[in-house]
Amino acid sequence: MMRLRACTARVVNAMRAIIWSFAAASLALLVPAPRIGIAHSDHQAGGPAAAEARAAPPAPAGNERWRARYFPNVPLVTHAGKTVRLYDDLLKGRRVVINLVYTQCQDLCPLETARLVQVQRLLGEGVGKDIHFYSISIDPERDTPAVLKAYMEKYGVGPGWTFLTGKKADIALIAKKFGLSSITDAADRDGHLPSLMVGNEPAGLWMRNSAVDNPRFLATKISTFLLGREAEGLLSSESYAQARPIEGLEAGSYLFRTRCAACHTIGGGDGIGPDLAGVASARDRAWLARYIRTPDKVLAGKDPIATALFARYKGVRMPNLRLGDGDVELLIRYLEAQARHEPQRKASAGR
Ligand code: HEC
Repeated sequence: MMRLRACTARVVNAMRAIIWSFAAASLALLVPAPRIGIAHSDHQAGGPAAAEARAAPPAPAGNERWRARYFPNVPLVTHAGKTVRLYDDLLKGRRVVINLVYTQCQDLCPLETARLVQVQRLLGEGVGKDIHFYSISIDPERDTPAVLKAYMEKYGVGPGWTFLTGKKADIALIAKKFGLSSITDAADRDGHLPSLMVGNEPAGLWMRNSAVDNPRFLATKISTFLLGREAEGLLSSESYAQARPIEGLEAGSYLFRTRCAACHTIGGGDGIGPDLAGVASARDRAWLARYIRTPDKVLAGKDPIATALFARYKGVRMPNLRLGDGDVELLIRYLEAQARHEPQRKASAGR
């Protein structure tokens, strides 16, 4: 497969070379014949085209011309209300992590944002210096700078991460250029894929990644891809000697870590959402199942518990993560099992 692709690339390159030499030849025909006299010296030095090349300013180094041409330099407005240009101000010469969001989204985006907040924390001070984070709204009419700013505060977004809005058509073009829009969009209630583009703009290297991966994995992947050797030491690495034994890798725990832990702890205090220690005994089981499966519907139905929680957690919504009944059952069993282990967990929590 790889060989086939390399081969195709070679054929394409060869064809490109042929097309270019044709283009150069026809251009040469269009250039008016130089006057005699000048023509003489020009001929010695390789003709008028060569003379022109000598006089022209040096061509942009390496792939710079390609880069500026590929990315539309459209204006966007930051959460702070500043107008910036996509290429000149946000991308040029930078290493970046970009995703699409919209603040009204109730499915995967809240998890995506919460997950990236974890990644940002893991990357520490490098964010804003070595690596720039950008979240671009695909609902720019509603997501004004003020709305974006409030959203950032709710999720605890740190410095070095800019939220952006702009004209709908410009943003659609950006999404397309970054490969963040896809034909599945229309079918997807979220309207976009939970993906990140991670790019080293000066090097022209880009990678697409799921935005909801394990945060430590994402942080490592982003920093090694973008910074290479410079990344060493950026992520605080603990010794294996300090590693806790891996808790049961059973399905419930896995689901909790991948879908819930970006916002919730069990016994570790409030995060973006409430600490879930003891929730399995505090709430009715059927309510819990309904709430975990369709929190948006429970809240919309003016359920008093959901309404009170929503008010208490600064208006961040518990997202509808489209879990199946089986997954919800596994999660509840996991929450119940954690409650049974609670005394032990408390005893070992001081570490
Ligand atoms: C993007 C953050 C986020 C994610 C991800 C998330 N939650 Fe929540 N959750 C919240 C918030 C915020 C609340 C508080 C209610 C509200 O504001 O809607 C909440 C409330 C809850 C409650 C109610 C707590 C109580 O006291 O009754 C339960 C239970 C819960 N979440 C379980 C889960 C489970 C299970 C998952 C994973 C499948 C999950 N949550 C994923 C943010 C999140």
